[in-house]
This record gives sequence, structure tokens and C-alpha cells, in this order.
Amino acid sequence: MAQFLWVIFPYLCIAVLVVGTIYRYSYDQIGWGSKSSEILEKRLLRWGSLLFHWGLVFVFFGHVMGLLIPIQFYQWLGVSSEFYHMNAEIFGGLTGLAAWVGILLLLIRRIVNKRVRLNSSPSDYVALCMLFIVVSLGLYVTTIYDSIHGPYEYRTSVGPWFRQVLTLHPQAALMLHAPLVLQMHAISAFLLFAISPFTRLVHIWSAPFAYITRAPILYRSRAQYRKAREETVNRYY
Ligand code: HEM
Repeated sequence: MAQFLWVIFPYLCIAVLVVGTIYRYSYDQIGWGSKSSEILEKRLLRWGSLLFHWGLVFVFFGHVMGLLIPIQFYQWLGVSSEFYHMNAEIFGGLTGLAAWVGILLLLIRRIVNKRVRLNSSPSDYVALCMLFIVVSLGLYVTTIYDSIHGPYEYRTSVGPWFRQVLTLHPQAALMLHAPLVLQMHAISAFLLFAISPFTRLVHIWSAPFAYITRAPILYRSRAQYRKAREETVNRYY
């Protein structure tokens, strides 16, 4: 079971993610992306989306610091374990809470608002529910679990295991003594990666970074356009 969960399962999910994304991109160009529902409801979307996306951006950097950067680097810098975990709890807790409130608002909006509900597909609910589960479990570890049991040193277990997954030689033993809720967080995160190609989450791969550098598009109202056109016509003809 341990071999399946911590060695085989992550690669199954990564394989589904890669093959599924290529398949979806090849056969569903029109449906690719995250169909906007802003026209149907704006208020909850603005708050939910902003809190969720900004929260998650900072949570992502927190994961890079906790999972990808080895503990030896912090020791070399002279950062104590207490100082590291205090910051992880404060900043991880706040940014995780922002992401959690955001996803909750987006989920409530999709269930409660009739116009949004009628324009939603089952995959929209699957994506939101999976995100809600993953974020809730992560936030539980950082806030509730850590305050009850004290901070768990994932930089000597989950972190090395995660890096081993990326370098293709994971050892299941590293995950065996991690708290159950953290194990569930990691498993549900991989499950989220696996379902993502079949949901609106594919928009992650098409984030509109080109907006930053592309030439601006100028929109003019038709009324003014007509006025300007008439003025030009009067002037020259
Ligand atoms: C397999 C991949 C992942 C692993 C191994 C992992 C591991 C962890 C760990 C060890 C923590 C505890 C951090 C702490 O207490 O300081 C955590 C927290 C958290 N995780 Fe993950 N995580 C993964 C993927 C994800 C994904 C995909 C999301 C969101 C979609 C996510 C959202 C969160 C949140 C919101 C928290 C609480 C805030 C924070 O501490 O940053 N995680 N995760």
C-alpha cells in the first residue's frame, strides 16, 4: 500500500496530467481555458477570485520554500527551526486562509447563484470541490494541527520525498510517519493534478502573460466614432 501511495500513485497522476493536457489541447481548442462567468455575477466573483488567486500565489512560494529548498540551506543561513516554523505558520496561515475564503466564496457562488449554476458543468464543481479539499487540508495542517501538536518538521520527510518524486527515485518510507492529514493533503493534491486537464484548471497553462508586453488595444464608443466620422466627412467633402 505504501509503495502504491507514495511511489506509484504520484507518477500515475503526473502521467494523466501530461497525457490528458496534451489530449485536451489537441482535441478541444475551443473549450480550452476558463470560460468567464463575470457577466452572470460580478460581486462574489471579484472577492472570491482575488482572494483565491493571490492567496494561492503566496502559498505556492511557501511550498517552494518548504518542499523544494532543503533544510540544510536554512541551517547554513543560520535560520532556526523555531523561526522558520513561526513564519511558516503566520504567513502560510494568512495566505492559506485567504485562498480558503476565496475558494469557499467561489463554491458558494456557483451553487447559490442561479445564472452561474445553469451555466456550470459538472467538471466546474469537481475542480472547485477538489481545490476546496486540498486547500482545507493544507490549512488545517498549518493552523489547527500545528497549534495542537506543535509544528511538524516536514522539511526532513515530506520535502525530501517530494524532491525525490521530481528526481524519479522516491522512497515511500519518508512519508510513513507524516501526520495523516498531511498525507491526505499530498494525495489529494496529486489527485487534483490528475483531474485538472479535464476541467477549467487548464487555464493555468494559458495565463495571459502576453498582456504585459503586447501593444494596447484602444476601444472607442461607437457614438464617438460616428461623431468623429461625420466631422471628418464634413471637413473633407
Ligand atoms: C503534492 C503536493 C503538495 C505537498 C507535498 C504539499 C505539502 C504541504 C505542507 C507540508 C504544508 C504545511 C506547511 C506548513 O505547515 O508550514 C502545506 C500547506 C498548504 N498547502 Fe500544500 N502541498 C502540496 C500541494 C498543494 C496544492 C496543489 C495546494 C493548493 C491547490 C496546496 C495548498 C496548501 C495550503 C493552502 C496550505 C496552508 C498554507 C501554507 O502553509 O502554505 N498544497 N502543503
